[in-house]
Amino acid sequence: MRSLVLDNIGRLVTCDPELGERQGASLVFEDGRVAAIAGAGRAPAADERIDAGGRCVIPGFVDSHTHLVFAGDRAEEFAARMAGQPYEAGGILRTVEDTRAATEDQLRALAGRRRLEQLAAGITHCEVKSGYALSVEGEERLCRLAGELSDDVTFLGAHVVPEGWGAEDYVSLVTGPMLTACAPHARWIDAFCERGAFDAEQSRAVLEAGRRAGLGLRVHANQLGPGPGVQLAVEMGAASADHCTYLTDDDIDALAASDTVATFLPATDFATRQPYPDARRALDAGIEVALATNTNPGSSYTTSIAFCIALAVREMGMTLEEALAAATVGGAAALRREDIGRLSPGCRGDAVVLEAPSPAHLAYRPGVPLVTMTFLGGRLAWEAAHGTTSPRRIA
Ligand code: NIG
Repeated sequence: MRSLVLDNIGRLVTCDPELGERQGASLVFEDGRVAAIAGAGRAPAADERIDAGGRCVIPGFVDSHTHLVFAGDRAEEFAARMAGQPYEAGGILRTVEDTRAATEDQLRALAGRRRLEQLAAGITHCEVKSGYALSVEGEERLCRLAGELSDDVTFLGAHVVPEGWGAEDYVSLVTGPMLTACAPHARWIDAFCERGAFDAEQSRAVLEAGRRAGLGLRVHANQLGPGPGVQLAVEMGAASADHCTYLTDDDIDALAASDTVATFLPATDFATRQPYPDARRALDAGIEVALATNTNPGSSYTTSIAFCIALAVREMGMTLEEALAAATVGGAAALRREDIGRLSPGCRGDAVVLEAPSPAHLAYRPGVPLVTMTFLGGRLAWEAAHGTTSPRRIA
């Protein structure tokens, strides 16, 4: 058995409603899991002890919506958008071209670098989608590479219709040979149900085929305007409806009566100049919500979940506590997982030490890298090179 104690925590925020917060605490990790919470200096002897220096400790962030495996960037498209061009689903095809041209080793290295960026941002678990190859072999390759980063891999063959294909033929490819090739590497299937991508019937066909293949369901819904995505997600029992930038009263009622999580991606609304979703309305209606980065080169090229928290608090009517919960336990709920997102005994030993006395600083000090240590599975996985400001290893 391997043990580690993270000691001298000033404020421990567990994100577990029953455990709440502790002042002056230590966290005990054994064999990759949280074994116990004790008072500061009161934990039993362990193989390793690390001093948090009185800082705040929170659960590792759960980023439940990312597109980490891709090549190239679209900085020019971003610049054009800032000059007034609208965001359109078709930009995805530029990344498809770059991704198809990259070798497997190049894609692995690019995605690995983004995974490191995530650890520096305090993200200990991420969902990873395919969707930038749109061919049988290419999507299989992306799902396989995504599986090297996460056990929450999403097959997103239904991202857009590639050049040279008609929509109906392409949906047959996605629901046939592409699904057969990708399903063994994936836990989820997703469809971009939006103007310029797939309509409700095409998205339904994709989701139904995925369900028959044993995959859980997720939907890109109501990103660029009101539409059928949210209702489809609820009707089909999807774990999550993602984006939810435009929610009608009927969408709110449907989500509130379901166990589909509404996942907000405010860095996307920032980078595409969309309005921000009204998270307050969703929360007041009793909808379970998550916050995620949507890391991708087109609509949200950031791994900063702290930035998403700051936007949610400043622009979406969420309290600091709600935003932190949405980026931790909320993300876990969107992935239907109970082993991550909280610092409760039995959960995976995923924790973040902040260079701050409280998590409020994540929104209060936007743009400042406050993550100073990231623990993954009970081990120190990343440490800031701050030198003197870093917590000190005792033994
Ligand atoms: O979630 N909306 C669909 N997919 C991504 C955008 C991908 C891109 O523009 O490359 C999203 O925003």
